[in-house]
Amino acid sequence: MGKLSNKVAVITGGSAGIGKASAFLFAEEGCAVGIIDINEADGEQVAQEIRISGGKATFIKADVSNADQLEAAIEAFADEFGGIDILYNNAGGATPRDDHLLNMPLDEFDHAIGLNLFGPFAACKFAIPHMDKRGGGSIINTASIRAMIGTSGADGYTSAKGGIVTLTRALAVQCAAKNIRVNAIAPGAVLTERVKKLMAAGNDSGPDQKMAERHLLGMGEPDQVAPVALFFACADSRWVTGQILPVDGGACMN
Ligand SMILES: NC(=O)c1ccc[n+]([C@@H]2O[C@H](COP(=O)([O-])OP(=O)(O)OC[C@H]3O[C@@H](n4cnc5c(N)ncnc54)[C@H](O)[C@@H]3O)[C@@H](O)[C@H]2O)c1
Repeated sequence: MGKLSNKVAVITGGSAGIGKASAFLFAEEGCAVGIIDINEADGEQVAQEIRISGGKATFIKADVSNADQLEAAIEAFADEFGGIDILYNNAGGATPRDDHLLNMPLDEFDHAIGLNLFGPFAACKFAIPHMDKRGGGSIINTASIRAMIGTSGADGYTSAKGGIVTLTRALAVQCAAKNIRVNAIAPGAVLTERVKKLMAAGNDSGPDQKMAERHLLGMGEPDQVAPVALFFACADSRWVTGQILPVDGGACMN
């Protein structure tokens, strides 16, 4: 028996990086995985690889900042798999346009909020009734160490991730009586392809040398975050809710 046998998870941003590593890990643990992403080619490939190795997975192309697309995808997964137990709000990130407040175009703020805060907010609204029907569930949101310490350079993104911290706590309070737990992972610098590109370009919205050096255990890899998402998804964390856990190689405390 896997840690997620007979469970159904929706993972946003599952075509790449941390979401992709988590989709594979959740499937290995017996979970049916519904993957949402705007990157169709890579998302289809992740789902196909999971199916080839004997797991259950379906990809649906949807933009998390578009409520109609998001709702349609979540409803389709609930129909296909018979319900939803786990929502991993992982899609997100800072774009190269995000910057210090005084330097950035104001419309990038709307984009950052749409992707990093509205998307998770709306996904919770659509998924919670399905979890309620199953008698409980687990929501894993994605904050960032930028929401825990003082940094500047991706100020739209950082504002959105701060919202994730407080949304997580508010939903944990609201959903406890439904046996739905709500926690968040606050990753440090994880060397996904996107982050590697930002660093190579010297873009302020990616980690700089000073930030990199804060990571006592070095910068992370996606497969160092996925097991923490699994912990929050499965019954090992059944008495944990409302928590924001830095998964950051010690960066926040340094
Ligand atoms: N990598 C890091 O250093 C780091 C640090 C702190 C927080 N995080 C957070 O962790 C999460 C995953 O980061 P990552 O580095 O693995 O990202 P990534 O860029 O490697 O993967 C993100 C995935 O989300 C998808 N995506 C982007 N916009 C989308 C949209 N509008 N709708 C649906 N899908 C969309 C992308 O296509 C991609 O497949 C994000 O929320 C990010 O903010 C990452």
